[in-house]
Amino acid sequence: MSTNEQQELYKTQGYFIVDDAVEPEMFDSLLAAARRVKQKVRSGEVDVYTHWTDPGEPWAIRGLFAPEFEEPVFAEYLMSDPVMGYVEPFIGSELQLGSVMIFTNPYHKDSGIGWHRDFGKLPRDASPEVELEILNRPMTRLKWHLPLVDDSCLLLVPGSHCRYRTDEEQAILRGDRESEMPGQKVIELKAGQTCFWHGYTMHRGIYKKDVERLTLAGNWSKYQPDAEPEEVDPRHRWQLAGDVRDALPEDLHVAYDRWRALQVD
Ligand SMILES: [Fe+2]
Repeated sequence: MSTNEQQELYKTQGYFIVDDAVEPEMFDSLLAAARRVKQKVRSGEVDVYTHWTDPGEPWAIRGLFAPEFEEPVFAEYLMSDPVMGYVEPFIGSELQLGSVMIFTNPYHKDSGIGWHRDFGKLPRDASPEVELEILNRPMTRLKWHLPLVDDSCLLLVPGSHCRYRTDEEQAILRGDRESEMPGQKVIELKAGQTCFWHGYTMHRGIYKKDVERLTLAGNWSKYQPDAEPEEVDPRHRWQLAGDVRDALPEDLHVAYDRWRALQVD
């Protein structure tokens, strides 16, 4: 698939899947590190910023760059050549720090996240004019999933990132967010494949307690020197700790400093 084809798929479908966004040796290191991290979090040994389904049952693990985990491979992966080779054609090489986190299956019960767009604080019930303006803003972020074991937990509606929602979709987004969505597609990924996808697509996650999920979710953001500093996202507050910057590879310090300069503590 050429870069042009990837960009076209991303633009029209909201995602594309590739086989070569991680070096095989790096993949092995990431898998081993992710297993250690999950074990440390589940045992209560380390908890930098974890999303729990219930006490002791994590479904998302943040804080991977923190020195407490002693796993520099996650930061090395973020800035690795295969990742950058995909990121730069989309958002350029002037970047501010992105992140890597782990999505994983809790063991005690099936769980999931209902249908949504990754709108953060943006309005979710806006008029067509407002919502289309949001959907058409210039791209400032690229995100992806790298499953370390086979993963079919992500469902999305292809093409939904560039159009207004239908009444039926809105009823699901605002009602039973776990019901079947018209046009939904299960994103089947083999370990080591990478799916780059648009967070404005309508999407959901389904976790099975007996099916191992160990998927890295990564992203990079475009450097926006003119952006107004904002209150730090509570999910990223741990990155303000003085020892996080020191734990990063030196090549990431510029990207870290750009991120830090925009955080109001
Ligand atoms: Fe999401």
